[in-house]
Amino acid sequence: MSANLLILGGTTEASSLAKAVAKRKLKAVFSYAGRVNSPREQPIPQRVGGFGGVDGLAAYLRDNNITHVIDATHPFAAKMSWNAYNACTEAGVPLLAFTRPPWVAQAGDEWVHVSDMYGAVAAVSGTPKRVMLALGRLHMEEFAAAPDNHYVLRLVDEPKIAPKLPDHSVIVARGPFTTEADIALFKEQRIDMVVCKNAGGKGAEAKVHAARELGLPMVMIDRPDLPPRDEVATVKAVFDWIDAH
Ligand SMILES: NC(=O)c1ccc[n+]([C@@H]2O[C@H](COP(=O)([O-])OP(=O)(O)OC[C@H]3O[C@@H](n4cnc5c(N)ncnc54)[C@H](OP(=O)(O)O)[C@@H]3O)[C@@H](O)[C@H]2O)c1
Repeated sequence: MSANLLILGGTTEASSLAKAVAKRKLKAVFSYAGRVNSPREQPIPQRVGGFGGVDGLAAYLRDNNITHVIDATHPFAAKMSWNAYNACTEAGVPLLAFTRPPWVAQAGDEWVHVSDMYGAVAAVSGTPKRVMLALGRLHMEEFAAAPDNHYVLRLVDEPKIAPKLPDHSVIVARGPFTTEADIALFKEQRIDMVVCKNAGGKGAEAKVHAARELGLPMVMIDRPDLPPRDEVATVKAVFDWIDAH
């Protein structure tokens, strides 16, 4: 039976995999959650929107004769990753995670490690400062609990409803960004502290390099618990795994 892949996407890594899959002319479909207005066009067929939980995804796998699932979602998309793990177990379809190693602090970095958004809010509380929130649109309003800061939000789309943060500005931009551009942005915005998720990988790393260059403290939100599955970090290793399964 020839391969028919489902790639769970929404990351730079997933897009690079889609490019390589198209080059090899493998049968595959790329899945987006549908969080942004105009997702990046992929060189393989794509679908948009949730599957309807574990049962919905298991049914999708069966109905579409999917032979392999590659979970290339963001490491903080834990719900999707657990759903993929449970649905693949239920439907008997092999699952691989295409992930990236987390970022690691270097000598001289001032990183505050926190395990969730509440920890991040606690870490930015106290003396008023200008805080860069590189977190996406879903978790901004938690920071209303630390109202004395000015927050700079970088979002993919212009928010439809103004974020409920007392003092903030919005920058609409889509990554990947460069270190030079992020240094310029942090200087222009007079940023004192950067909050981000430990996504890892190259696509979102510019802010980490920029904060390092400028000697800015970072609040680093550690990764959530993810299911036990095969994991690789390169496109080549994905193809090796497909060949072996
Ligand atoms: N979390 C982040 O920080 C972050 C950052 C950058 C990009 N992303 C990308 O944005 C998407 C959503 O992230 P999230 O944190 O909101 O996910 P999540 O909380 O783990 O997922 C919530 C629900 O969204 C649907 N979903 C998520 N990813 C999907 C995909 N690739 N294809 C189809 N449905 C998907 C599923 O709905 P059903 O249960 O109905 O199937 C899932 O149960 C992911 O694709 C992720 O790769 C996330």
